[in-house]
Amino acid sequence: MHSFNKSGRIIITCSKGNAPSLQKEVEELGYKLKDFFQTGIQLSGTLNDCIRLNLNLRCANHILFSLKSFECRDAAQLYNVVSKDIQWENIIDESGYFSVTSNVQNETITNSLYANVKVKDAIADRFMSIKNRRPDSGSKTDKIVINLFWKNNQAEIFLDTSGETLSKHGYRKIPGRAPMMESLAAATILATNWNRTAPFINPMCGSGTLAIEAALIATNRKPGLYRDNYAFMHILGFEDTFYVKEKIFLTEQILDIAGLIIIANDISEDAINIAKINAGAAGVAELITFDLNDFNEINIPVEKDGVIFFNPEYGDRLGEEPALEKTYREMGDFMKQKCKGYSGFIFTGNLNLAKKIGLKPKKRIEFYNGKIECRLLEYELYDGSRN
Ligand SMILES: C[S@@+](CC[C@H](N)C(=O)[O-])C[C@H]1O[C@@H](n2cnc3c(N)ncnc32)[C@H](O)[C@@H]1O
Repeated sequence: MHSFNKSGRIIITCSKGNAPSLQKEVEELGYKLKDFFQTGIQLSGTLNDCIRLNLNLRCANHILFSLKSFECRDAAQLYNVVSKDIQWENIIDESGYFSVTSNVQNETITNSLYANVKVKDAIADRFMSIKNRRPDSGSKTDKIVINLFWKNNQAEIFLDTSGETLSKHGYRKIPGRAPMMESLAAATILATNWNRTAPFINPMCGSGTLAIEAALIATNRKPGLYRDNYAFMHILGFEDTFYVKEKIFLTEQILDIAGLIIIANDISEDAINIAKINAGAAGVAELITFDLNDFNEINIPVEKDGVIFFNPEYGDRLGEEPALEKTYREMGDFMKQKCKGYSGFIFTGNLNLAKKIGLKPKKRIEFYNGKIECRLLEYELYDGSRN
């Protein structure tokens, strides 16, 4: 049985651009970072720490726990080390199920699926020689997941303690048109430094992701409240005592924020209906005011430190660029005239259109929506005569 209390190397992966927000979250949980990469961070901890991280993190994709790091020139060496140096019979139940995922950049390997098969064979053959029986394997990632990271001549085998990605937060019943991934929405909100008590206005809410994530962040509702299966549960040695305690703690941590203002507005009735359903599934519908309007008609509450966060279409997947130029210009005018005292944010993947906003951004933060390079643009909307 594998020990859940033995310390090791943990890598938390995330989408490009999300790492600074992920770092904030991990540090808020009391962990110290050992390293920081473009698509993840490294720290030390146990499998029990992996459980806590899986339940709590909004901006992560996978929590990986290192089993072995080794020099590896080719597939034969990979097979050798994986079959001999890791006691798989202490990790995977012989009647269980596992899958192998990988990230491979080695000149002897042209297809990473081949590396996956080598790892799978190595595990299966070890089981056959020791137990004369082997666990099932395949592509489903809802049980044990073994991850291979192999770059040049250095390889590392991890237990992917998440299995299915953490980037989906489990409440989105209907995606709507061009929705933001939940982890990206959370990462952009954390990047705004919103104080979690002032108004959060989302004038083009679509399926509601940003408004819902804002409500989840403000009330300290963590993604683990919405998910019941993780890969760590299938590792031999998993006892649910720690998990159940952590899960109860998630419920106890929920905050009741009296008077919190979150507005989710859209011009499309379908979008508003979908946003309401998704917010209901997340248990935060009553915290959000839903409005069906052109954003130009929104009444912005007069409050200090509010955040107004636009995620307009950007011409790649929806709408055409020329028609959108007017919308971008109007967003700039609206923020300048009606949102004084707020911090304004526009998240877009179209930097040409962003120029039409007509305000000078105070900050441009790089994010990625899948493969599309995006920017979160911040505008300081001075109260009084400065604007
Ligand atoms: C890219 S989508 C937003 C996606 C959203 N962030 C999500 O995660 O689902 C842009 C939204 O802006 C809305 N929209 C476009 N023009 C608008 C306007 N003038 N006023 C309000 N909403 C508008 C569209 O109906 C669409 O739902």
